[in-house]
Amino acid sequence: MSETAQNHKKVIVSGMRPTGYLHLGHFHGVIENWVQLQQDSQYSFKFFFVADWHSLTTEYANTAQIKDFSKELIIDWLAYGVDPQKATIFVQSAVPEHAELHLLLSMITPVSWLERVPSYKDLQKELKGKDLSTYGFLGYPLLQTADVAIYNATHIPVGQDQVAHIEFSREVVRRFNHIYQTELLPEPQPVLTNFPKVPGLDGRKMSKSYNNSIYLKDSEDEASKKIMPMMTDPARVRRTDPGNPEVCPVFDYHKLYSSDENKNEVIQGCTTAGMGCVDCKKMLLKNMNETLNPFREKRRELEGQPQIVDDVIQAGNQTARQVAQENLQKVRDVFHV
Ligand code: TRP
Ligand code: SF4
Repeated sequence: MSETAQNHKKVIVSGMRPTGYLHLGHFHGVIENWVQLQQDSQYSFKFFFVADWHSLTTEYANTAQIKDFSKELIIDWLAYGVDPQKATIFVQSAVPEHAELHLLLSMITPVSWLERVPSYKDLQKELKGKDLSTYGFLGYPLLQTADVAIYNATHIPVGQDQVAHIEFSREVVRRFNHIYQTELLPEPQPVLTNFPKVPGLDGRKMSKSYNNSIYLKDSEDEASKKIMPMMTDPARVRRTDPGNPEVCPVFDYHKLYSSDENKNEVIQGCTTAGMGCVDCKKMLLKNMNETLNPFREKRRELEGQPQIVDDVIQAGNQTARQVAQENLQKVRDVFHV
């Protein structure tokens, strides 16, 4: 690695599309990781943003909720620990410099590179009710490249499903640096954070589309109404049948919220039919509420003070925009425009 490349400060950038309310899978798989990273001093800057333009690439015909979802997303982040003092929180579409960098990078991006990103064909097949043969959808990974390059991002905390996008970003950045004989843009690398198992209420992956989620906005009561009838070890038909916690999604939740002592009690009680599923779930709820109630309370507070949220977004947009403008100018100079 050359000297200049090494001299790039470590910068974290990550985004989420505003597709609806966040659930516990997002909390334990994404937000908890962001909260860790935001206080990690090896990274000089941290940017977390709402990728509302990315939502448009698939939801262009159904946009009525995007603004509301964007705000709710930021309320979820703030309530569950993302700190605007430590990270810059903003909305992509409030920083039009992303779009200009997308345009400039499009000049050097081979269409074939975009066509071979696996998510392109996969999502087209998966969402076959939608016409995704659009220019915007094809450009999804390039917009994502602009999102990170505009902040000179070096580290991108994401799940496994985004690794191909980051690999694409690295290739585009490398091509830019090569064509213009510069080291202006750092090659971003993924930070693969830990992603604990958070099954949905039916044992499948927790997902909005399966209708099996516990949302971050759910109250104690709503969560309880979801957990009490939730699926358990299917072999445990009667109260007198012993069960196996390792195949029970309730036990996956115990792993997230319960002490070792409580978990051992469940293992002991479940495998000997000494403990019933109702009691097991009640114990879970008590522990879960201990963890989640402070966040739920913070969320209710924020819901009651929308101005505070708006102020955070305003300030974040402004900070992001300043950095983006400075960095974009350097890219414009490279292109002599
Ligand atoms: N594609 C990402 C996702 O679906 C969202 C995203 C957009 C993103 N721009 C980004 C993530 C930049 C990290 C960095 O999850
Ligand atoms: Fe699952 Fe608990 Fe019932 Fe065992 S006792 S099957 S771990 S809910």
